[in-house]
Amino acid sequence: RPAHADALVVFGATGDLAHKMIFPALHAMASRGTLNVPVLGVAASGWGLDQLREHARDGIEQAGKTDDRAALDKLLSLLCYVDGDYHDPETFLKLKQALGEARHPAYYLAIPPALFSTVIKGLGETGLADQARLIVEKPFGRDLASARELNRIALSAFPENAIFRIDHYLGKEAIMNILYFRFANAFLEPIWNRNSISSVQITLSEDFGVKGRGAFYESAGCLRDVIQNHLFQIVALLAMEPPAYQGYGAVHNEKAKVFQAMRPLHPNDMVRGQYRGYLDEPCVASDSDVETFCALRLFIDSWRWAGVPWYLRAGKCLATTAAEILVELKPPPQRLFDDSAPEAGRANYLRFRLSPNSAVALAARVKRAGKEFVGDQRELYLSEEQIGAEMPYERLLSDAMAGNGALFTREDAVEAAWRVVDPVLEMHPKAQPYEPGTWGPAAADELIRTHGSWHNPSLE
Ligand code: BG6
Repeated sequence: RPAHADALVVFGATGDLAHKMIFPALHAMASRGTLNVPVLGVAASGWGLDQLREHARDGIEQAGKTDDRAALDKLLSLLCYVDGDYHDPETFLKLKQALGEARHPAYYLAIPPALFSTVIKGLGETGLADQARLIVEKPFGRDLASARELNRIALSAFPENAIFRIDHYLGKEAIMNILYFRFANAFLEPIWNRNSISSVQITLSEDFGVKGRGAFYESAGCLRDVIQNHLFQIVALLAMEPPAYQGYGAVHNEKAKVFQAMRPLHPNDMVRGQYRGYLDEPCVASDSDVETFCALRLFIDSWRWAGVPWYLRAGKCLATTAAEILVELKPPPQRLFDDSAPEAGRANYLRFRLSPNSAVALAARVKRAGKEFVGDQRELYLSEEQIGAEMPYERLLSDAMAGNGALFTREDAVEAAWRVVDPVLEMHPKAQPYEPGTWGPAAADELIRTHGSWHNPSLE
């Protein structure tokens, strides 16, 4: 396949994902000078090109990108629009015509998964899939069976190396830094295993609710929305073995092995919560048991991680909006100083701050000046300026168009991750109510009790 796509086709161009994410990302690419191919929007909205341009302009403005007029004009001049029903072969013939000389387009499916098979079939039957790429957005299925089916459909027209599955967390600098930090430094490897690490925690908290996405949330819930994908991807980067060679295939191989080694979840390893007020959100059933909070205890049955619990937690309407990882090291073998075990028993840890900023902190105890051997808890804080960094969608879209699959998820990894959560998708404890602005239901504290307590990310 050629190095760079010679057109981008966005199915669902009149929708929300295109408005919020894709057009602002394309604008950023235009600003950087990396967008130089036609962008064709396809939808069944009965729109014309002017309406699509307006939709794009509005999305870009709402994303706060108003400063680069030239980039906006460039993007608008590259836009074309094809209107038509995805079930109608005529739509694909119109698309073929609109593609003109382009022979290696990238197709972005910004449409509900239920329409994937229709569109992929339409592309295949018109010969439009040959030499082309497919970009799809999460959710990749809603359980193992549907993920397999989606993969089957995609693979019926595109080879695996032409399929780019977007998990936008992989496009974040702080997440890429996990891989970099682990394998660009030598000091971590000797301690990065069950001998020195007592537990790992990952928290993704948001201080807002479902923000009008009640209908989507009712069909998803927190486990499907952010844990099976975003948080599991973070676990894989933290837990994987060093890649055996340079090149992204090796990273994909190691990540897939982590998902394969994850123990399928048991309902006892799970706490589900629902914020008070969720039932009053639009499009939410009055007796809904859908979780807006989820905490898990996960095990990776591998040589490196046997016996180390991984505590994962995510939720809406929590105390703050932040994401952090805490890798907790075992305490020293003897307690030589009276103060050397702080209450939480947490003398040494590595803290990866993922959002809103990116940083790594290494915690240690340091002696306080004076006669006594007492000390304080300190963090060695490493952070890097993020100025000029690409936003996740810009990075991922330009990588997909350039044919670089490093930051995308592979078929086997997606399915292996579903295999882990499959047993608790239907069989699970009831969602327990929690007050907005808290850290979720008290049962989540019980889940982690044998290994201490949750580390709550603060705003700093
Ligand atoms: C999305 C989820 O995938 O990720 C949202 O559907 C969630 O519910 C979002 O809010 C979080 O992403 P970010 O980049 O804002 O941390």
